[in-house]
Amino acid sequence: MNIYQVANTNSHLSSLSNKFSKSIVNFIECSHLISDYISSLQRPILNNINCRINQGEFVVLLGLNGAGKSTFLKSLVGLVPLVKGEININGISVSNHNLAQIRQDVGMLFQGGGLIKQLSAIDNVLCGRLGIRKTGQTLWGFPQRDRTLALELLKQLGLEKQAYQKTSKLSGGQQQKVAIARALMQSPQILLADEPTTGLDILSSQQVMNTLAELHQKGLTIITVLHDLVLAQEYGTRAIILDKGEVIYDGKCENLQDKLQDKLS
Ligand SMILES: Nc1ncnc2c1ncn2[C@@H]1O[C@H](COP(=O)(O)OP(=O)(O)OP(=O)(O)O)[C@@H](O)[C@H]1O
Ligand SMILES: [Mg+2]
Repeated sequence: MNIYQVANTNSHLSSLSNKFSKSIVNFIECSHLISDYISSLQRPILNNINCRINQGEFVVLLGLNGAGKSTFLKSLVGLVPLVKGEININGISVSNHNLAQIRQDVGMLFQGGGLIKQLSAIDNVLCGRLGIRKTGQTLWGFPQRDRTLALELLKQLGLEKQAYQKTSKLSGGQQQKVAIARALMQSPQILLADEPTTGLDILSSQQVMNTLAELHQKGLTIITVLHDLVLAQEYGTRAIILDKGEVIYDGKCENLQDKLQDKLS
């Protein structure tokens, strides 16, 4: 079984509808996103963002430090209050009322991993089930089927031997893969990854990007922040460049170095 099939099995286990096998039109549409005004920046962090990302795309989100990339990704899962605009995911407008559902459809890898370093790899992965399980179901620990699934995902990512090690003892690349496994525990349709390769060596970066590419090939929509333009061109099907909270380029992953320089100069 490949990693996609494992994640797919996950949606059966959760008794959610089997989203992967249905031909759902799956998209994210952002219309005029404006976040709070920040006086130190003298503008909102997100300053009128418009874009539509369709099912099956592999979008690389680029831009200088402080451009608003992380804020934009976070806004897609309702972590950034908007003063104006709308985010529509699969026909559902993101609001406080439907965040739980949205966060099942949209998995996120946070910048820096966001793992609990004192917990083992498998326990971190199991945390990906917290949004799905009711408190009563996890009071005495996660059900065995969740543990089996978490272990299977770690195995698929080559981390079977590290499953019971403290996450703080794993390498950066291994930690990033644990974060990917945790995001996959909720069987998302869309995966947001904020700088999944930053700080990793060339081999680990390739492994993490290959994992994202494998998931993409199997049907997941990927939106990832990258600073490495070579990786962006190698893996992305579309690039979105942000500057000062605005989209300044949205198109093919070609000559990205020139595009960044042209637009930012
Ligand atoms: N909660 C906040 N309050 C005030 N300013 C903020 C807040 N969050 C982010 N910012 C500012 O908004 C800008 C955009 O931040 P963001 O983290 O989205 O940038 P980024 O493009 O992800 O940068 P990097 O490449 O360094 O990760 C930065 O100038 C940052 O200092
Ligand atoms: Mg960032």
